[in-house]
Order: sequence, then C-alpha cells, then structure tokens
Amino acid sequence: RSGEKKSPLKVLIAAPRGFCAGVDRAIEIVERSIERYGAPVYVRHEIVHNRYVVEGLREKGAIFVEELDEVPDDAPVVFSAHGVPKSVPAEAERREMIYLDATCPLVSKVHRQAERQIEKGQHIIFIGHQGHPEVIGTMGQVPEGRMTLVETVDDVAKLSFTEEDDLAFLTQTTLSVDDTADVIRALKTRYPQIIAPKAEDICYATSNRQASVKAIAGECQLVLVIGAPNSSNSLRLVEVAERMGATSYLIQRADEIDPAWLENVDTVGVTAGASAPEVLVREVLAKLGEMCDVTEETVRTTEEKMIFKLPRQLTE
Ligand code: F3S
Repeated sequence: RSGEKKSPLKVLIAAPRGFCAGVDRAIEIVERSIERYGAPVYVRHEIVHNRYVVEGLREKGAIFVEELDEVPDDAPVVFSAHGVPKSVPAEAERREMIYLDATCPLVSKVHRQAERQIEKGQHIIFIGHQGHPEVIGTMGQVPEGRMTLVETVDDVAKLSFTEEDDLAFLTQTTLSVDDTADVIRALKTRYPQIIAPKAEDICYATSNRQASVKAIAGECQLVLVIGAPNSSNSLRLVEVAERMGATSYLIQRADEIDPAWLENVDTVGVTAGASAPEVLVREVLAKLGEMCDVTEETVRTTEEKMIFKLPRQLTE
C-alpha cells in the first residue's frame, strides 16, 4: 500500500477550545483531595461531562455517585463543577462530612444573584435546559415556586405573568449566545419591566468557544466537535457550526470518525467543548492524519487568561 496516495485535507483548528478555567479547577480539586485525604474520594455527579476525564480520576481513586446518600459519612466528597442545590451542602453539614465544592465560580456567581433577587422580592425567569445539573443546582438556590424555567421563545409566550409583576431573569452559563439573545428579546418585549443581570451569565468560555467555531465553520464542509452528548456547551458548538452551513458531528473519541464523512470534503474544522481534554483533540488530528494528507492551521479568535483559585481547604 506504500504507493497509495492520500487525498489532501486542510484542518482548521479553533482556538480557544477545550478546557475552561472552571473545568481545570474542578479536576484539580479532585486530584488534590485524593492526595490530601487519600483514596477513595467520592464525587457527586460526573465532575465534568467527559468520560475520559472521569475514567482517569476513577483510576486515581475517585468514586462517582449521583446522590449524597451513596457516600459514607466519614468519606470526603466533591460536588461537581455544575453546582448543586442548597439542600446538598446542607445535608453534608448535617452529616458532618468533609465536602469540597468544585462548583465553577461563574456558576456560583449566578447562584448568589438568584439569592439577591429573591431577597428583593423578585420572581426569577431562568433561561436554561431542563434536567441539566446546572439548572437543577441553580433552581435549588431559591425556595420552590420562586423561579420559572424557560428554554425557548415559545416558552416565553406561554408565561402567565403580567406587566405588573416584579420579574428578573438569569441564564445557565453554557447556552447558545444567539438563541439566548432571542429569548431575552422576547422576555423584554413581553415584560419591559424585567430586570436583567448586571453582567451576562453565559460564561466567557462558552462565548469564546462559540465565536471561535463560528470563525472557521464558514470555510469548512465538516466540523468535528469533541465532547460528550450530555455536555451542554459542546452541543451548542455543533449547532453554531451547522448554522454556518457546515455538517457537524459531536464525537467523544477519534475512532468515531466515519471515513465516509470525509468524502468530497477538502476542509475540516476541529474544536472541543469546555470539558474535553486536549489529548482527545490530538487523537482526532492523528486519526485525520492517518486517513488524509493533512495541513493543519490554528485559527485563534481570542486569548484566555482566566484562572480560578482552589478552595481554601486544599491550599492551607
Ligand atoms: Fe465555568 Fe463556563 Fe467552564 S461556567 S465550568 S468556565 S464552561
């Protein structure tokens, strides 16, 4: 087969892509907890939505569970980056457990805003995806019935509040920038009195990754997004690429690439969600290199310098 010629393929790699500061911090919290307290350390929910990361931490001594009642009283437990309802740390306190909160500081910021809005007597409209752990966590910051979830412009039309109601809105951190702008516009049209958050809740990493895939997708026939099917920000990257006219697939590992996808394709885009490690990007690039005669080009739209501090328990 040595004489066989591979077809040329241009690969545009989006930057920024992959790990955000909140994911870096969450993984480090689990690793440092294992060093400090010894294995096993329990983690409530996948620390970040990526199987490769979860498996790696499991090998180091983490045990992943869905609920706190699966954790023995005397074992340390870490809460995932997505955040938890207030009832979870309250229960850990009651049981006198050692717990470490890996909630992303940008999610915690939304939690505190929600509390403040409730104190002011406002009812919160929360824009987010039903069932996502971040949504469950944020809605669990306030008494039941004080926050209403909407996902789409249609949901806004179905709300039964009036123009007299004291309303505020907040959003999940990993939404589509464009779709959310539409939902916010609909909210403001229907309820001109609604109070907006001081700063955008969609986080810097989410908007930067959407902007960087937007910058390459127009030139690509195919865009591969590395991420998990339950990763909200990764799913949004697929949508952005498709809206730019590219075919886009969400893949977890390189072996999911179907050679048929590359037929009649001369330019492929590659990016990764905020919970996907760079080794998986390298793996995908290597695989494309086996299949085609690849020329790589990184297209950077912005630099990121965000770093979040670890919890005091781990630094003292
Ligand atoms: Fe935090 Fe945004 Fe990452 S909310 S965990 S920085 S995707």
